[in-house]
Amino acid sequence: MQSDYNTHIKRIVLLLVVAAVLGFLAKKFATPTSFGKYGHYRADAIQDEVDRPLRHMTNESCLSCHPFEWELHEQGRHKTISCEFCHGTYADHVQDGKFAGRLPVKKGEEIKTLCLRCHNKAIKARPKDVIKTVEMPRHLEDQHVQVTHICNQCHHVHAPLIYINHAQKVLGIEEANNGKQ
Ligand code: HEC
Ligand code: HEC
Ligand code: HEC
Ligand code: HEC
Repeated sequence: MQSDYNTHIKRIVLLLVVAAVLGFLAKKFATPTSFGKYGHYRADAIQDEVDRPLRHMTNESCLSCHPFEWELHEQGRHKTISCEFCHGTYADHVQDGKFAGRLPVKKGEEIKTLCLRCHNKAIKARPKDVIKTVEMPRHLEDQHVQVTHICNQCHHVHAPLIYINHAQKVLGIEEANNGKQ
């Protein structure tokens, strides 16, 4: 059969109409019902987020079972740091208010790595007046100790200046840290 001179145009137009109808139907059926209720997003997504179980808690949530560590931490320079940053997630440890699983406790070299994640002088973008940084092994050489020393041999992990302030007091050195530990 011989085709009209404009058959190819008709085919394209037909194809576009079919695509437009399919697109319209797909939009109608695939758009979630709550889409657009508050804005250009799915309104139910907010409730979905609210319903997700909490994984992280405040430092106060540790108090009931670990009053000793909490007290020290609260008095020390690290009181603004989340316990969970160093120890892991509350939800892996406590469920329904009861002990549910052990958290790993860092030891030796792991402690050094942990401390240097925040206190390494190599982190250039860190404002020095917010987090004081040290350079290893220079920091240990300054203290005239072997460079194999680990941070917690001199700094209590929960109150990093407690021993140092104590030592300085014993030696009669003026405290530079306004009594904070
Ligand atoms: C409901 C009580 C409870 C709460 C709340 C709780 N813990 Fe514990 N935690 C325990 C018990 C019990 C152990 C001892 C486990 C053992 O001896 O095996 C423990 C042990 C630990 C240990 C040491 C693990 C070890 O192997 O020595 C760390 C670290 C710890 N908890 C951190 C935390 C932090 C951080 C929080 C708050 C985010 C917290 N815990 C909240 C009950 C609790
Ligand atoms: C800067 C990191 C850091 C923060 C913040 C921190 N901890 Fe720890 N914590 C450690 C490290 C490291 C150890 C292991 C230290 C060691 O053995 O000297 C430890 C040990 C512990 C232990 C086990 C003690 C033991 O003798 O077995 C408990 C319990 C604990 N921390 C609870 C807490 C609680 C509760 C908080 C918050 C109130 C907290 N920690 C905040 C780093 C931290
Ligand atoms: C999550 C980041 C973080 C980690 C991990 C951390 N620190 Fe800190 N540290 C801080 C911040 C922030 C301050 C300052 C708090 C303030 O002054 O309000 C601080 C303060 C200190 C200070 C006091 C410095 C001064 O004069 O202000 C010492 C010492 C210290 N930390 C040692 C350690 C040691 C040792 C470890 C490892 C056990 C450690 N920190 C792990 C964030 C961290
Ligand atoms: C041999 C003991 C010793 C060890 C080990 C040690 N420190 Fe210190 N650190 C000190 C003393 C003492 C001071 C206080 C120095 C001062 O007041 O001039 C200090 C101060 C700091 C400060 C505050 C610096 C400032 O500018 O005020 C930070 C941060 C710190 N140490 C982090 C660490 C970290 C992180 C480690 C492990 C990688 C570590 N220290 C290991 C003894 C030690």
